[in-house]
Amino acid sequence: MTEKNYRKWFEQCRFGLFIHWGLYAMRSAHEWQQSFDKMPTGEYEKLYFNRFEPDLYDPVQWAETARSAGMKYVVFTAKHHDGFCMWDTKYTDFNSMKAPLCRRDLIGEAVTAFRNAGIKIGIYYSLPDWHHPNYVIDARHPLRDNKVERDYLPYREFLHNQVMELMQKYSPDILWFDGDYPDTRHIWDAEELNRKIREANPDILVNRLPGFSDFLSPEQNIPDGNDNMVCWEGCQVFRGSAWGYNRDDDHCKSSKEIVQMLIRHVSKGGNLLLNVGPDARGNFPETMTERLLEVGKWMRLHSRAVYNCTMAPAGIIPPQDCHYTWNPETARLYLHLFSYPDRRVRLCGINAEDVEYAQLLNDASFLALGVAEDRININGAVDQAGSLIVNLPVKQPDVAVPVVELFMKRK
Ligand code: GLC
Repeated sequence: MTEKNYRKWFEQCRFGLFIHWGLYAMRSAHEWQQSFDKMPTGEYEKLYFNRFEPDLYDPVQWAETARSAGMKYVVFTAKHHDGFCMWDTKYTDFNSMKAPLCRRDLIGEAVTAFRNAGIKIGIYYSLPDWHHPNYVIDARHPLRDNKVERDYLPYREFLHNQVMELMQKYSPDILWFDGDYPDTRHIWDAEELNRKIREANPDILVNRLPGFSDFLSPEQNIPDGNDNMVCWEGCQVFRGSAWGYNRDDDHCKSSKEIVQMLIRHVSKGGNLLLNVGPDARGNFPETMTERLLEVGKWMRLHSRAVYNCTMAPAGIIPPQDCHYTWNPETARLYLHLFSYPDRRVRLCGINAEDVEYAQLLNDASFLALGVAEDRININGAVDQAGSLIVNLPVKQPDVAVPVVELFMKRK
């Protein structure tokens, strides 16, 4: 993990939108479905490529939804494992410009729309490619039952060319690779690819390129702790357990669950990259749009407990059902109350003398502070007298997660 100044913007943003969109939206099951179905690429093309018609695709609307939700960057699937390219690439005809009912540069349009909304651009590019005739038939390939040897060098060249083309055309802030496995790692020539990428843009952030990633990328989980303050981004599904559109899967996280998830990420010094799988006409599922706008309502009042924040200084253990985020520059500590305490909350490890002022963040209303006079045992740890006590209103603020803002004395 390299220490870089330019990763700063990334850690300040904290909240991003992942978009898994491609032909697999038409299959409405899983972005890996072609592999699960063992469907040869010819058949896949005939079924989906020829009928892909995203007539309702409006990236300006998508960007507006993301902006309203408080998201500061987007990561867009330019090519997933099926090999379908969502941009105007000169290296294959299997792309959205050439799809007869589409004929649009979907990535190009998204990049313009999201940039205009002040959102940073990440491009996801799959290292495996089930469409390319020189991509090896590995254990996950749709043709795995008919194994033949393939010369992968032309595929390596294609991959390098496409990545450089994406960089040149769209100048992404992040290149997000996916699908590296130990048995195919030799194909990419990650070292040379990395060299070319950094030469073209020394400020770019690279993810999941084996050996050359700028941040850790846990998927559908988060680290237990982060004592070394590493840079990380958790990518999480919105619905079910997969990434692409699925009409039958209606378990969607609530806005409260998403807000809580975001807080858990930031409280461990990480980013949340939350995924949406649009349908094949180009719409976000309606429930997701609604939930994102609800998250935006919370963010409007609480974003300063998210942006520029990280984990609390060592030794400060949050009360039960609470999480801390911390802005070291403003010296403000945020206590996120996942369940609402009975009138008062004792903050173990925080000396009352170190706190100047406290308020509810949603409406900046004053909170009276007190000092704990007793020494107690909490969760097996002793808390000395002198800890801070925050007195809370009886009535819980009407927000997804109430937040107490503590102004700490600068040391
Ligand atoms: C997993 C999935 C892949 C998805 C990725 C997102 O690797 O297999 O389909 O794109 O997660 O992080």
